[in-house]
Amino acid sequence: MDTVVVVKDLRRDYIISSGFLKRKTRRIEALRGIDLTIYRGESFGIVGPNGAGKTTLIRILTTTLLPTSGEATVLGYDVSRQPQEIRKRIGLLFGGEKGLYTRLSVWDNMRYFANLYGIPRRQQHRRIKELLTMGGLSERIGDRVSTLSRGMRQRLHIARALLSDPDILFLDEPTIGLDPIGAHEFRNELKRLHSIGKTLILTTHYMYEAELLCDRVAILNEGRVVMLDAPDLIRRYAHDFSVIEIEVFGPVDGIAKELCKVSGVLDITTETRDQRTSLLVQVKDPNQVMQHLPPLLEGMRVYHLATREPTLEDAYIRIISASESKPHE
Ligand SMILES: Nc1ncnc2c1ncn2[C@@H]1O[C@H](COP(=O)(O)OP(=O)(O)OP(=O)(O)O)[C@@H](O)[C@H]1O
Ligand SMILES: [Mg+2]
Repeated sequence: MDTVVVVKDLRRDYIISSGFLKRKTRRIEALRGIDLTIYRGESFGIVGPNGAGKTTLIRILTTTLLPTSGEATVLGYDVSRQPQEIRKRIGLLFGGEKGLYTRLSVWDNMRYFANLYGIPRRQQHRRIKELLTMGGLSERIGDRVSTLSRGMRQRLHIARALLSDPDILFLDEPTIGLDPIGAHEFRNELKRLHSIGKTLILTTHYMYEAELLCDRVAILNEGRVVMLDAPDLIRRYAHDFSVIEIEVFGPVDGIAKELCKVSGVLDITTETRDQRTSLLVQVKDPNQVMQHLPPLLEGMRVYHLATREPTLEDAYIRIISASESKPHE
């Protein structure tokens, strides 16, 4: 198979200094030896908690940040020595608001980037029109970007990223801040790009998005790849446990504390919304743990109590907590 990205023992440190009179420096090891191979036409996901190193990795591969040591090649070009060759052949898209000129029109933004990417003037008109039509923005061509909704801006971002007809598209949290319909449409657009053979490399915090879009997923934690496989296989990694879902009224600290002591409880996560608290309890054997629940839940208003098979998200939580060097907050 044709490889498009090869990463070997890649490391990146950040040195941050603080203090005024007594300057102190501290070293953050954002990437601590990453090894990866990504193939042509793959849709490759990178997931992991905040600070895992996802953006740092994307920035190195897209040549906006140099590695501290190790090797990374994109389409056969070295990120440190041949950044120009790489930049010509890739598209880059960050979620959120950055990177567009809000006081310029949609069309002028596209023209600006077309010039920046060195697209011949003769081809610019047709290409921009095509991309804006595809992105559903042809009605807004003359409008300032500041008047577009966030979802429309995101579609403009993707149109911009596709200007140079790149072989690889890098996307860092592309659906962040989009409403459910916007995110759905956007994912369909990514599926279409994947189906016409583009290589997609994306980061996300949404496990179902990774499952929906990615052929393979790398889970990063604390600067290392802690798992790399097809979403299905990662989920299967979690087949040796089940999940008990409990939803109650009010706080659950007491229940969580007691459950921690029960043998066969692997992990507990809680989430509170509108005074309702959900507990997700990962267990080896649900029957064994279920019998401990009645006394713990006595007197509480219980909205929901069920056992289910683990999802990719459950597997992710399990893998992350198993790989953690300190308790995760
Ligand atoms: N410019 C910087 N200067 C100093 N430290 C940085 C810088 N950028 C990132 N870091 C640190 O490097 C580590 C990895 O950060 P990175 O942004 O790559 O994580 P991430 O996986 O993208 O996280 P998130 O999910 O929050 O976007 C973190 O500890 C972060 O604080
Ligand atoms: Mg990031």
